[in-house]
Amino acid sequence: MKNRRLALLGAIVASCIDAASGASQSYTWKNVVTGGGGGFVPGIVFNPSEQGLAYARTDIGGAYRLNSDDTWTPLTDFVGNSDWNHWGIDALATDPVDTNRVYLAVGMYTNEWDPNNGAILRSTDKGETWTETALPFKVGGNMPGRGMGERLAVDPNDNRILFFGARSGNGLWKSTDYGATWAKVSSFTWTGTYFQDSSSTYTSAVVGLAWVTFDSTSGQSGSPTPRIFVGVADTGQSVFVSEDAGATWKWVSGEPQYGFLPHKGVLSPSENTLYISYSNGAGPYDGTNGTVHKYDISTATWTDISPTSMADTYYGYGGLTVDLQAPGTLLVATLNSWWPDAIIWRSVDSGATWSPIWEWNGYPNINYYYDYDVSKAPWLEDSTSTAEFPVRVGWMIEALSIDPFDSNHWLYGTGATIYGGHDLTNWDSGNKVTLQSLAVGIEEMAVQALIVPPGGPLLSAVFDEGGFYHSDLDSPPSQKYHTPTFSSTNGLDYAGNKPSNIVRSGSSASGTDPTVALSSNFGSTWSANYAASSSTGTGSVAFSADADTVLLMSSTQGALRSQYQSTFTAVSSLPSGAVIASDKSDNAYFYGGAGGAIYVSSNTGSSFTKTATLGTSSSVNAIRAHPSIAGDIWATTDTGLWHSTDHGATFTRVSSAVTAGWSFGLGAPSSSSSYAVLYGFFTIDGVTGLFKTEDRGVNWAVISDAENGFGAASANVVNADPETYGLVFVGTNGRGIFYGEPAGALPTATATATATATSTGTTLTSTTRTSTSTATATSTATQTTTTTSTRTTTTATTTTSTTAPTATAAPYGQCGGSGYTGPTVCPSGWTCTYANEFYSQS
Ligand SMILES: *[C@@H]1O[C@H](CO)[C@@H](O)[C@H](O)[C@H]1NC(C)=O
Repeated sequence: MKNRRLALLGAIVASCIDAASGASQSYTWKNVVTGGGGGFVPGIVFNPSEQGLAYARTDIGGAYRLNSDDTWTPLTDFVGNSDWNHWGIDALATDPVDTNRVYLAVGMYTNEWDPNNGAILRSTDKGETWTETALPFKVGGNMPGRGMGERLAVDPNDNRILFFGARSGNGLWKSTDYGATWAKVSSFTWTGTYFQDSSSTYTSAVVGLAWVTFDSTSGQSGSPTPRIFVGVADTGQSVFVSEDAGATWKWVSGEPQYGFLPHKGVLSPSENTLYISYSNGAGPYDGTNGTVHKYDISTATWTDISPTSMADTYYGYGGLTVDLQAPGTLLVATLNSWWPDAIIWRSVDSGATWSPIWEWNGYPNINYYYDYDVSKAPWLEDSTSTAEFPVRVGWMIEALSIDPFDSNHWLYGTGATIYGGHDLTNWDSGNKVTLQSLAVGIEEMAVQALIVPPGGPLLSAVFDEGGFYHSDLDSPPSQKYHTPTFSSTNGLDYAGNKPSNIVRSGSSASGTDPTVALSSNFGSTWSANYAASSSTGTGSVAFSADADTVLLMSSTQGALRSQYQSTFTAVSSLPSGAVIASDKSDNAYFYGGAGGAIYVSSNTGSSFTKTATLGTSSSVNAIRAHPSIAGDIWATTDTGLWHSTDHGATFTRVSSAVTAGWSFGLGAPSSSSSYAVLYGFFTIDGVTGLFKTEDRGVNWAVISDAENGFGAASANVVNADPETYGLVFVGTNGRGIFYGEPAGALPTATATATATATSTGTTLTSTTRTSTSTATATSTATQTTTTTSTRTTTTATTTTSTTAPTATAAPYGQCGGSGYTGPTVCPSGWTCTYANEFYSQS
């Protein structure tokens, strides 16, 4: 997944909100199916003790558990606005003793892009529910080196013990209580000095510790394992060992030092051997040199078993796995062999000899030893590609695992999806293995735009995969957008009066196609818009209502306009970086927003005039036009929600309770209204979440919930179906696209904050996370902050509140949240509702 800087938001706590705005409506949320991941999968971990139990981690979209039918179940969809960085999973550990236990090291960035420290999440029910311990430093789930690992490991002989290898010079950390509290291992002093380069705070971050591997054979059940190996991202000495359960450490002498970094350290217990893959880059994009080595523990000897000699290699090595059913059988992968394709090798003699999954047979001929089956996500193969050698094996291969119970079952992660199969031993009999795409359930797209043109499908713009035409939300699209194919799509819009006419802007996959494309059949087929060139900067787009004019907010050239497909020209009267929208009914009108002000064009985007300043707003986050009413537009800002009914000449602030807004959409009205339902991410009475209003902002209901937090509010895109009441879409930054449909009645609207929200017979079942927080500061070596949160299921009604309060929060006052110790009971007629980290509802 490309790195994306997020707009950063302060912590949000629960607050009492009045009945008018505090209602919630129960929604059912499902992924719009692509069936193929869509981003980097840096880790796949099988449990060695329970057949069929495996997990995958992603860099920006959370963690998943494998099901017996090859599908995956997401485990971290509760992550919301305040804990958005928990979707960055830097390490995962599954307990080999108590197989119900699983652990995640979470946090997105170690530089300033992420203001929050990381955490260890622990679960005793295979990831259904989690308890969190905050760490006193940052964790980098989307940082360089995120495919090295695993950095987190459970002692296979005493599963109370875990070790975690931290980044940024923070060293090695240990827990002796199933991950509840952590202390720094002060005797481990090799924190790693490697960083990619000094060009930015992102690339200059120290990668730190890369993996922790227990030698299970060195100990016995019930006692701490004596021998532990640790790999460190360092170009000097980089593999270390303890023989006394982590009390003292030393370099593993004889380790070859070519300036390479150890990516994986995988134990083959019955061979008493540690296999290590090295690359000269931390990954996931780099690596031009490297080795595979094995270390015989009993004889303390190192052997170079690289499939390709150092003199001849142009890649380093990443993924490495051993077959626990067949000692001496292993697979290793290139971390990146960009051309013609990645290579995976298999050895059945402990690395003495290797066979590749494909090999040259005199250029340009290749012998393929695999078949390719992407029936679960057909778009993974571009049917229009003219590439001489289609990339199928993949790239960015760090996750590579053979099922410890089934020598035929294997899985590996790439930059785009998970592949694997069920016939791996075919490799040894000279038959082809079948590479299957096996990422169903993993939806990792970073979504940039969503539109639902009336009469048309759901159309998406996504990073890395371009985007999709979804006529069936529950089935994978056959292909991504084509001719031209964009590697990433940044903007998408339809023409309001001629909604089958679509425009998209994105970066050309070929490098030669124009960066703007047009469709006249709802995005089913496309043609390049030669008004743009391959170097026209990409960005958001707006299509005039009659489909004659495109307005493009180019990331490099500011506002550009093209009419009747004439060459794009600059529109200097609209500030660079402004959000843009077209009127959906009046062809002459375009709207822009920047710096808290609205800009209007009444001449099809030729020029803009600043018409209105939206209160004290300093930004405009989104503008949307009503799908069928000319001049009816809405804008969200850093201070609230605004509405105009006169083509943007004047605006009314919708409700003082709305204090911030981001992406939103207008969908079909309810049967009792003629006006569209508005859905979007807002802060309302101090609560940040996904809300809807059916009466233009008088009454609001929150429709995100404890199980569906959608990550960072500011990073999401929202739209709604203009023809199906209630159907709303949320595009996330790393968890794909969700669609939601009402599962319960909307509470009866009460326009004022009367004593009770008289929603007759509305019973809401919700999952509540309550919390207690303990901050422990012990010695400098053992600073931990423990936050215990449990999630309990409660059944609540919106009709009455019979609890006798001991202490009552003030109206609009705080009533919950991490670390909060004040009153949690609201005054009569008020309800303590929604917080991102800890959700409650009464
Ligand atoms: C890889 O690194 C080794 C050790 O520095 C060096 O001898 C070798 O030439 C390098 N390989 C290539 C292809 O540059």
